[in-house]
Amino acid sequence: MIIYSKCSDYATDICPCILAENGHCIECSQCRGENFCDCSDTASFCVMQELRNNGGKAKEPRRAHLCEVSYVKDYEDMFRLIRLRVPRDQVRDYSAIGSYVLVRMRDDPYFDVPVSVLHQAYDSDTIGLLIQYRGIKTNDFRTLRRGDMVHVRGPFFNGVQGRKAVASLRNSRALILCRGIGFLPSLSVMDSLRANGNSLDVYLDRGQFSGHVLDLYSGLFEIGIRETRISDETGALTEETRRIIEDSMQNGTALIHLGLSDYLIGQLIRHLEEKQYAGAVSFINNARICCGEGICGACTRDIRPGRMVHLCKEQLNRSEYHRIYG
Ligand code: FES
Repeated sequence: MIIYSKCSDYATDICPCILAENGHCIECSQCRGENFCDCSDTASFCVMQELRNNGGKAKEPRRAHLCEVSYVKDYEDMFRLIRLRVPRDQVRDYSAIGSYVLVRMRDDPYFDVPVSVLHQAYDSDTIGLLIQYRGIKTNDFRTLRRGDMVHVRGPFFNGVQGRKAVASLRNSRALILCRGIGFLPSLSVMDSLRANGNSLDVYLDRGQFSGHVLDLYSGLFEIGIRETRISDETGALTEETRRIIEDSMQNGTALIHLGLSDYLIGQLIRHLEEKQYAGAVSFINNARICCGEGICGACTRDIRPGRMVHLCKEQLNRSEYHRIYG
């Protein structure tokens, strides 16, 4: 069951998690030791009650399992597209907005790499991932062959901020602005928006990223893209980007999604605030993900005194976006 709430794991099979057991639940004020309930969700799932039912203990966390590699294709000696065979009853879970997995070749969790799920195929029970060689963890995948087994933990769901806004938009209009590799984690957003009858204006700045991969996925998902340049050499938004946003606002765009770097997300969020854009905003989560469970602290940001967020799990309020990237 997926309920779009403050915690991306709320009411899933692993909820309540170790955070609730230790008084740090993202969702439930009572689990955090408050004597009142500020639960704003109506999913009939009480984290506190579930915790009590479970003897005050967290539910079993996600465990890594071995998945067979069914397909491997290289792109430009920098990228490797792989397909992994996952248990049939889990394929649907990987289709959630912003889903990602932690994968590794070795039997050593230090080598976990977070990777967005690009697509899932129900006929072959597979998911697609793109590995970009960046360091010792990802270089392990250079030796990967069809038939090999890979450790997979997931799916995790917080690869996108603004999941609820994306999931709830119906029969409306959305603007998608992506640059380079940011196009790939945005695929689940576009897929969901189109499934709900929304029309999309998709602008892509290819940047330095593989044109082959972008063409492959825009073709596979049948996404009509318009080429653009989001920023100039100084990192400032181009006149064209400003015009695209202006036109979209006049056309009644109800949601703007940003598949960009943190720096450009910050630029766009500032620009949208200056323009007093009142619609919804979503963007890809570029946080450094390590454990994915809100434990290790690799993804945490202090957004104001007393308010620290775990970006691997927590959905921000729209009013908090500028504190992260603005
Ligand atoms: S990745 Fe470990 S706390 Fe978020």
